[in-house]
Amino acid sequence: MLSHRHLSDPADELTAATTLASRIWTPRTRWHSGDISWSVCERDLSARCPAAAWCHGDTVVAWARVPVPGRLDLQVDPARPDAVSSVLDWFEALPGHSAHSVDDPLRVTVLRDETHISEELARRGYTSEDSGPFFVHLTRDLTDVPEPSVPDGYRLRPVTGVEESGMRAAVHAAAFSRPDRPSRMTGETYRRVMSAPNYRPGLDWIVEHADGAAAFCLVWWDPSNDSACLEPVGCHPGHRRSGLASAVIYAALRQAAGWGAEVARVCARGDADYPSARALYQSVGFTVIGRNDTWQRAGVPSR
Ligand SMILES: CC(C)(COP(=O)(O)OP(=O)(O)OC[C@H]1O[C@@H](n2cnc3c(N)ncnc32)[C@H](O)[C@@H]1OP(=O)(O)O)[C@@H](O)C(=O)NCCC(=O)NCCS
Repeated sequence: MLSHRHLSDPADELTAATTLASRIWTPRTRWHSGDISWSVCERDLSARCPAAAWCHGDTVVAWARVPVPGRLDLQVDPARPDAVSSVLDWFEALPGHSAHSVDDPLRVTVLRDETHISEELARRGYTSEDSGPFFVHLTRDLTDVPEPSVPDGYRLRPVTGVEESGMRAAVHAAAFSRPDRPSRMTGETYRRVMSAPNYRPGLDWIVEHADGAAAFCLVWWDPSNDSACLEPVGCHPGHRRSGLASAVIYAALRQAAGWGAEVARVCARGDADYPSARALYQSVGFTVIGRNDTWQRAGVPSR
């Protein structure tokens, strides 16, 4: 018998979701504990994000959240496929979801290997989208990470701690802002990331130059399964194609390997509309091992 609890406090969500992710991790699971920490800490706390966990005794066997109405993120222990229908029942019963219009279907993203979830989605009438953006998962063995080098005038180092949150937020915002969509990252948000229990400044590397930080790579190491996850990586637009992202990835991965990480995982857009990140990761030795699919189902059209 599964018990179910709402996770209204992001700290509770972080604990439940990272505990599950660490316990069931393989390179072929969708969520690494680091992905979860990043995504919970960097999100806009003013936006409503229903979240819940399902437990067998004290063991978390499923976690789910709805970051925007109609969209489900979930992780379910493959050894407890019975929890999938409990999660989907919860999602579909949230206010507004049963009356979604055909133009605004319910959407659920899963790794293609998560057949214990996709089989239940298919049974309920969801279909897999065959166009649009999607993410691939890439992995790299950490036994032979090359020593990094940067051009003259640049220097590699890990951040010193929370006093550098403003600088870290600024270079993140520079890398991820687009003219039509500025980054929401602020020093306050980055301080939340730094307060996550599994954040380690020694794995948050930057390339700096005379005017500040130019590139960065944050690695999350999970010592319970010797895995590492890169989230996020970026380079200031004024410094691209000089090998800075490659160098900072190598630096952070070498540190993680030195502490015991054996394999690293990263996600990147897999579709032709956003090739740069995937090309970067493949150029530093990562191989695509899987991809996400988004399943959708129209609700009852509203009248
Ligand atoms: C992707 C990104 C991090 C690359 O940073 P960078 O410092 O320019 O990368 P590097 O100079 O180390 O590039 C190494 C290799 O990656 C590939 N690559 C990098 N940018 C590329 C691009 N725009 N198009 C195609 N390939 C690219 C190339 O193979 C490149 O080698 P080359 O320059 O000898 O051809 C940077 O463009 C960025 O910050 N983008 C926005 C944020 C983002 O998408 N982050 C990754 C997802 S979390």
